[in-house]
Parts: sequence; C-alpha cells; structure tokens
Amino acid sequence: MPDFQAPRGMNDVLPEDEAIWRHVRETTERVARLFDYRRIETPIVEELGVFTRTAGEESDIVSKEMYAFDDRGGSTLALRPEGTAGVCRAYLEHGMASRPQPVRLYYFAPTFRYDRPQAGRYRQHWQFGVECIGDPSPAADVEVLELQRTLYAELGLTDFTVRLNSIGTAETRAAYREVLMAHFAPHLETLSADSQRRYETNVMRILDSKEDANHPALQDAPSILDYLSEEDTEHFAQVRALLDGLGVEYEVDPAIVRGLDYYARTVWEFQPQDAGGQSTLGAGGRYDGLIEMLGGPSTPGTGFATGIERLVLEIEKSEPDLDDVTPDVFTVPLGDAGAIAAARLARDLRAAGVAVRAGVPGRSMRAQLRAANSSGARYAVIVGDDEAAKGVAQLKPLLDDGDQREVALVDVAGAVAD
Ligand code: HAM
Repeated sequence: MPDFQAPRGMNDVLPEDEAIWRHVRETTERVARLFDYRRIETPIVEELGVFTRTAGEESDIVSKEMYAFDDRGGSTLALRPEGTAGVCRAYLEHGMASRPQPVRLYYFAPTFRYDRPQAGRYRQHWQFGVECIGDPSPAADVEVLELQRTLYAELGLTDFTVRLNSIGTAETRAAYREVLMAHFAPHLETLSADSQRRYETNVMRILDSKEDANHPALQDAPSILDYLSEEDTEHFAQVRALLDGLGVEYEVDPAIVRGLDYYARTVWEFQPQDAGGQSTLGAGGRYDGLIEMLGGPSTPGTGFATGIERLVLEIEKSEPDLDDVTPDVFTVPLGDAGAIAAARLARDLRAAGVAVRAGVPGRSMRAQLRAANSSGARYAVIVGDDEAAKGVAQLKPLLDDGDQREVALVDVAGAVAD
C-alpha cells in the first residue's frame, strides 16, 4: 500500500478514461453551441455567503456537505457545492444585466460535496450546467430542459423519465408549508428522524424523503399544485403546453421539491428508468429570487446541471466503441547520430501537425518496433546512424502490410500525410 491515496470519494480520471470523458465533454460543448450558450469559468472557491444565502443554511449541501475553511487572511471560503450561485455572483459582479437578456452561460467544472461516497455519488464530482439568466418566460425553462434532453439524446441516453413540478413563488410556498405542517403534525412520531428534522427546517423536504417514501402520510400529502397562485398556475400551464408542443414526455410529480432554497416555480429531474432516486442524471429549475439573495436586483433565471460521472456510468452500460487517441508516427532512433536525426525529424513532423511518439534511444530495434506496433501509430519511422548520414529514414506501415521503404527525411511529413 503506498503512503498516499486520492482523498476518499474523489477520483482520478486516468488516460484510459479519457476517450469517454472527451466524448462527453465535446458533446456538452457542441450542444451548448447549438443553443448559443457561452462558456463561463468561475473560481472553485467562493465566499461562504454565496452558498449559505442561496442554497440555504438548512439545505443538505450547506449544512452537512460543504467544504468550508478560513484562508490565511481570515476570509471564510467554500469549495463550490454547486455551480448556479457562483455563476449568478459573476453575472451580478460583471454587470451582465446591461447585456442583451437573457444571458446564456454554461460550465463544465469540478464540484464538491462531503457526502457518503457510493457509485455515482462522490465528494468531488464534475458538473456540466447551463444558466439562462434574465428571462422570466416559460419558454426559457423549456429551452433549458430541451437542451438537457438534447444532450442526453446526443449521448445515446433516451431511457429516462422527466419528473416535472412547479413549487410556486416564495409566498406560495410559505402558505403551503403551513398546510403541510398541519398535515404531518399528527404523524411526526411515525416518521423517520430525518423527516422529523426536516419538519423543523424545511417541511417540504419530507416529500423528498427516500426512507419515508411509502409512509401513508406522504402518499396522501396535499399537493403544492393545489396551492399555486393564479400566475404560478398559468406559468406552469405554459411550460407544459410548450413541452407538449415539442413532444417532450414528462410526468408531473408534486413530490419533486429539490433540495436547494433558491428554486421558484418550474423544477425538474431526469431519472434513469431502471434506477431509484439516488441516481438522478441531472436536474434543474427556475431560480427567480437567487440574484436578489446575493444583493442584486430581482432577476429571473433558470438552468440545470448534470453529473459527468453519472453520465459516464450510464454511457458505459452500452459499451460504446470510442476511438482511443493514438500517435500518427512512432520514431525508432538507433545509434547516437540516429537519435539526433530522429529528434529533429520528430520536431519537424510535429510542426507539420503530425502526432509523434518518440521511441527511446538505446533500446533495441526489436523492442522499439514491438512498442510501435502496440502504440496504434500508422507508421514507424526508423532512423539509424546510416540513415542519418544519408538524410533518409525507413518508413514502415504498421496498420496494413505495405512494404517498408526509404524516404528522404524532408519527405517524411508528406509521406505520412497521404
Ligand atoms: P443538483 O441536483 O444538486 O443541482 O445537482 C445536479 C446534478 O449533479 C445531479 O443531478 C447529479 O447528476 C450531480 N451530482 C450531485 N451531487 C453529486 C455527487 N455527490 N456525486 C456525483 N454527482 C452528483 C444543482 O447542483 C443545481 N445547481 C442545478 C441547477 C442549475 N439548477 C439551476 N441551474
């Protein structure tokens, strides 16, 4: 056992994982481009308040899972447990409200939650997320949800259920919470300890409880949809009409309440068909109050995020055939003069855009050719002292049984380009 390992719940993404990670990353970038979203990078850490004010002091990610610390100057910072709050902080800080609205942004970024590690749940995970800020309309919610659906479809993932709900505005929820508290009060003793805690901190989260999912008090709990204001109801009806018009299937599920305080109105989760609630592929919703919570003017926003590790696990189930990265050319240097000529040739080839894996001078020709064969390169280029003296190389095709031939060093780039 070596002295050190990666921190518990955190993963190394190894070169052999790169093909699938690149496939996912490039697909997210392509789909973001199709919807005209621009990339934003925010720091991995923010001032603690960015998260406590928005996700809420009582949310799991803040109260149980945050990596928070004081830096050497005494500022209290936190590793980001989610992406939306930092993006909104940047929107505000850079005056993006004066740009044409909405501002459409995306990120692909490491995210940290001190959670109990298990398959698909890590202490560092990567999120792809988008935020559409400055548009209160139902069309913005549907654009974001459609972007998410398109991303999964482009990755070959279609076997999921979209669970959709509206949780209304803060005023709606205040009234609904009272109704819920009255409903759960007589059942408190038979609910789990976690639900009893949620009763005090945020009673709506009891609806989200895995442990109590089959408890009769959850089954017949009053639905938030019956307590929405007229405007909330109209907004939600328009979201559904647009989704119906696009042929996007979804299930309205009043139990989708989301664990972050900043949500308002439309919320949704994409769940794989064959899995329980733990493995939500990605989720999002509207957060019209968030920028105000950060001290800015009232600004609407909507977005989603999806965990990259969970996407990779889903995609791997179908064993995709993804191209590994291979060099174009493997150089085989032999002898001292050959080593210099091979190093120069490698430099010229790279300048011409040819990917070169350099053989190790001093190793035998046999060993180098064996390495060349397993590298996936299309050509081995052998340069010994004799070749160096004559200004040539031996070009050996590796992927077909073409003949080895002698080529002038200056012609190698052209020959391997064919
Ligand atoms: P969230 O539902 O907390 O939402 O996380 C989004 C996604 O990140 C989850 O659906 C899941 O795929 C992934 N995820 C979360 N925690 C973990 C973990 N511990 N390990 C692996 N994957 C994880 C948000 O974070 C919101 N900011 C989404 C959003 C954007 N809403 C509006 N805009």
